[in-house]
Amino acid sequence: MIKIDNLIVQFGGMRPINELSAVLTAPVAGLIGPNGAGKTTLLNVLSGFVKPIQGSVALGERPLLPMTPLQRVRAGLRRSFQTEQVVEDLTVAGNIAAITDHVVGAGHHARAVNQALAFAGLTDVAERLGQSLNLFQRRLVELAKCVVGEPKLILLDEPAAGLTEEEGKAFRELVLRIPAEFRAQVLIIDHDVDLIRSMCSETMVLDYGKLLALGPTQSVLADPNVRRAYLGEF
Ligand SMILES: Nc1ncnc2c1ncn2[C@@H]1O[C@H](COP(=O)(O)OP(=O)(O)OP(=O)(O)O)[C@@H](O)[C@H]1O
Ligand SMILES: [Mg+2]
Repeated sequence: MIKIDNLIVQFGGMRPINELSAVLTAPVAGLIGPNGAGKTTLLNVLSGFVKPIQGSVALGERPLLPMTPLQRVRAGLRRSFQTEQVVEDLTVAGNIAAITDHVVGAGHHARAVNQALAFAGLTDVAERLGQSLNLFQRRLVELAKCVVGEPKLILLDEPAAGLTEEEGKAFRELVLRIPAEFRAQVLIIDHDVDLIRSMCSETMVLDYGKLLALGPTQSVLADPNVRRAYLGEF
C-alpha cells in the first residue's frame, strides 16, 4: 500500500506536485495524466530522488522520506526509468547482479540473478552484453532487476513505451504475475489507456500536480473530468 499525504514538490516557482493526498492499494495500480502532470516527479519522491517541501509518503506503515534512496531499495522499493538504463558494457546477468549486492544476502546472489533471469525469460541471453540488446530485451532486463531480492513496491515509468503490440502483450503478462509471485505491489505509469485498462484495477489521475481522480479504473476512465483532461488523447 502506498500512502501519500498532503505532498508538495516545488521547483523554482512551479509545483509539479501540489497538495496531493492518495492511498493506493491495488496489486497493480495505474498512474496516468497529461505530459508534465507530475507522474515521474511522484515516482522520484517515492524513490528518493526528489525531496518534497511538505507532506509524507509511506510504503505500508513505513514512512519513506526519512530514508535514503538505498535504504528504500533495501526496504523493497524498486523502479524503472522512463528511458531505459541498461549498462551497455555489462552482460544481462551483470546488469541484474548490480542490484543483488544491495538486497540479497551473501551466498545467495547467483540464485537471485538466475531467478530474475528465468522470470523475465532472459536465461538464454544472460551472457550477452547490454549493447547487443534490442529495446524489448532492455525493458525485460529492467523488469528483471525490479524483482530481485524481495521487492515490496515496484514503480514502472512507461515501461512498455516503444514496444510492438506483441512485445507489449508479453510484457504486460509478466508484470501481472508480479503480485502473486513476488508479493509486491506494482505502480505503473503509461500513456496507453488500453494498457492501463487491461492491467490496473485501480488508477490515479494527476493533472498539474493535483489529484484529478482515483478509484476503480473503469469508473476513473469514464469520469468526465478525466476525459476532458485527456481530450485528443482518447
Ligand atoms: N528537476 C526538475 N527541475 C525543474 N522542473 C522539473 C524537474 N523535473 C520535472 N520538472 C517539471 O515538473 C513538471 C512535471 O514533470 P514530470 O516529469 O513529473 O511530468 P510527467 O507527468 O512524468 O510527464 P510525461 O508524461 O511527459 O513524462 C513538468 O513541468 C517538468 O518540466
Ligand atoms: Mg514522466
